[in-house]
Amino acid sequence: MKAMREEIINIQNQAINQILEATSLAQLDEIRVTYLGRSGKLTALTKSMKDLAPEQKKEIGILINQSITTINQQLAEQKNIFTDSAHEWFDPTVPGIKPSLGHTHLVTQAINEISGIFEKIGFTRVRYPEVEWDWYAFESLNMPKEHPARDAWETFFVDHPIDPKMGKMVLTPHTSSGQVREMQRVKTPPIRMINIAKCYRRQADISHVPMFHQFEGLVIDRGIAITHLKGTLDFFAKTFFGEGRKIRLRPYHFQFTEPSFEVDISCGLCEGRGCSLCKAGWLELGGAGMVHPNVLTAGGIDPQKYTGFAFGWGVERTYMMKSGLKIDDIRLLYSANLKFLSQF
Ligand code: DAH
Repeated sequence: MKAMREEIINIQNQAINQILEATSLAQLDEIRVTYLGRSGKLTALTKSMKDLAPEQKKEIGILINQSITTINQQLAEQKNIFTDSAHEWFDPTVPGIKPSLGHTHLVTQAINEISGIFEKIGFTRVRYPEVEWDWYAFESLNMPKEHPARDAWETFFVDHPIDPKMGKMVLTPHTSSGQVREMQRVKTPPIRMINIAKCYRRQADISHVPMFHQFEGLVIDRGIAITHLKGTLDFFAKTFFGEGRKIRLRPYHFQFTEPSFEVDISCGLCEGRGCSLCKAGWLELGGAGMVHPNVLTAGGIDPQKYTGFAFGWGVERTYMMKSGLKIDDIRLLYSANLKFLSQF
């Protein structure tokens, strides 16, 4: 009896081991015939039961039936694995599919590149408030209240109580608002600042967006002259745009610099021939000049001892002028159009 019970268990274990090792449906069928077929191992045991006493017959019968059920279940499960597509053959040596990685926005890339170039020649990157007092944005820059020059900055005013000294609150219309803040922070020159920040103006067309970026340079020390300004701008232009690009200074007027210039660079889209983006081959980058004595005084720096230069350019404009890039509408930069943005 005991021997028979053990035999049933052994047969069942053998069958299950073979089922688990099988690699095809044909093998499973062979195993089924070996154990459960007309002359299979369990079938043979059933036949040998006829010599047993009725009590034993019952017990062994139950055991054999249980074994048959277990083997059938295991066969069915294994069959599922072979036919279920989720368990298809997996080859771990096939190269994987790389998940696509995002990247920084091209304006952020430009900002990083620009600050890197100026940091190389000793400038320190700073950030000042985007919501700023009128005094820093205009008055300390030699533009008293009601001065007509202010009209050039189509300013957004913030609904906030007016401060007797600082005036209204504005969204910074230019990064020049960081000039006097930097003088107050450093107190004693030398100053070599690069302030890169968001600027806001009421404007929207093919070459203007209401929120854009500028980078503002400010250098103050003893004996700073126009040659230092030219040398710095030349170094930047050659490093950022490439040796082939040309820069020129045109006399201009700003309240906060004297003398003042406008800085132009040869157009990268048409290579100087003239196109819809530029005027006769030149693109205007932004202003520059020698810091006005009134501005130094507003920042607590003695204009008798120190002189300085400053410049303020648009980041987007500057980036678009980089050779090889043919973006003819600045609004695309902020369109959130992934087809466009993922190219960079
Ligand atoms: N802030 C001026 C603008 O937004 C640009 C500018 C002109 C900045 C002359 C300067 C400068 O630092 O010296 O148009």
